[in-house]
Amino acid sequence: MISRRALLLATGAGFAATALPWRGVRAQEGLKRFALRPMPGTANIAGSAYPDTAIWGYDGQVPGPALRLRRGQVLEVEVENGIDRPTTVHWHGIRLPNEMDGVPGVTQDAIAPGGRFTYRFAVPDAGTYWYHPHLGSSEQIGRGLYGPLIVEEEEPIQVDRELVWLLDDWRLGRDAQILGGFDDLHDKTHDGRIGNTVTLNGKVTETVPVRAGERLRLRLVNVANGRIFSLDFQGHRPQVIALDGHPVTPHAPKDGRITLAPGMRADIVLDLEGRPGERFDVVDHFYPQFVYRFVTLAYGAETPLRDSPLDAPIRLAANDLPVPDLDGAQQENLLFGGGMMSPMAGARMAGRTVDLREMLGHGVAWTMNGEAHPANEGHHHPMLFRVPLGRTCRLAMTNETAWYHPIHLHGHVFRVIARNGRKVEEDAFLDTVLIAPRESLEIAFVADNPGRWMLHCHVLEHQSGGMMGLFEVG
Ligand code: C2O
Ligand code: CU
Repeated sequence: MISRRALLLATGAGFAATALPWRGVRAQEGLKRFALRPMPGTANIAGSAYPDTAIWGYDGQVPGPALRLRRGQVLEVEVENGIDRPTTVHWHGIRLPNEMDGVPGVTQDAIAPGGRFTYRFAVPDAGTYWYHPHLGSSEQIGRGLYGPLIVEEEEPIQVDRELVWLLDDWRLGRDAQILGGFDDLHDKTHDGRIGNTVTLNGKVTETVPVRAGERLRLRLVNVANGRIFSLDFQGHRPQVIALDGHPVTPHAPKDGRITLAPGMRADIVLDLEGRPGERFDVVDHFYPQFVYRFVTLAYGAETPLRDSPLDAPIRLAANDLPVPDLDGAQQENLLFGGGMMSPMAGARMAGRTVDLREMLGHGVAWTMNGEAHPANEGHHHPMLFRVPLGRTCRLAMTNETAWYHPIHLHGHVFRVIARNGRKVEEDAFLDTVLIAPRESLEIAFVADNPGRWMLHCHVLEHQSGGMMGLFEVG
């Protein structure tokens, strides 16, 4: 049952009679139609000194085409599978009807090579999202199948230019070709498939041209298999205006760095306060042993667009999101174990006690609540918990492993309500949250979208290594 308070909040936020996210959407200006064809292609990823790289991409390009539409419109995408593997498309972060979620064996059958599937759903929330396969993800996303999905606000904030930055990391050989060995046991048990070639929008990028005085909106998306980025915009003062698509109170990032694990997004406003001709590095600090220059902002010689930063508000209008009702909440717990360098006593698999070596023999590296689930993409997914429709779920997650895990929930948005046992008040609504080694986090979400949904780590080799399960709403 929907609690009275949740219902009031939902109706107060503009929904007619129910909290089902897509039902409250007024279809404005109808439909936006696109076609996407996952297929092999080539792209110059490593730079002009290197040969082109054979990739898989939507329409043969990486990143795939930007799908843009306005909040409240209906997105229709006809997918024709042009690779020689079954695939699907998942719309990361979008609150949509379950049967459009793109999870093979759960919400649809995989799209066979040469086969087609049409996705059609309204987009209830403005924001920065992305799309990618949900099958053989380590290889399919790792070879370049991803693209941005941008849902524009009815009334966007005023900026001079908007850029979408998809951050990726590739494992290439000397000939600039993608190395095989996806989902290998080392990557599964450590920090995923960390590569050797970091790209911006599918290309090693030295400089990004900017103009003094202009205001940029940057939509950052981490599409990498395993790499986490923590970007320091040297000489600048970025303001975070949205996380995982949803508006937040504009603020400077903690430690001045924008940290994004795989799957996560941040929208930032950047005022170009340097002078004509100046250059500033954007430095990635996430791995202390590997601090490097991600790109350089290169100021052109033209006269500044304006002398002082634009004096216009940068706060985005809120999306209509269901606010968790903590009093009436259902409590669930999820304990992550396994991987290298983690004590793992008494893990069970199919009713027996197992050790990591035996688990790895079945392609599993991780446990959830002490259970190891054999490599599960396209197979059987464990049911982690069930929540009645409309009820708030509080989910306490503990990371007992030695590794970072960005945990992603489908079909819903959540708030972080506690970190390491201490209550926090954070206004962000997220679909992916990074849990550090030995950290615990509690999140809360209104289970307002009926169906069977995935919960998984977005390090793709952890996902295939057993850190994926289902929760059911309704
Ligand atoms: Cu970005 Cu389950 O996915
Ligand atoms: Cu993980």
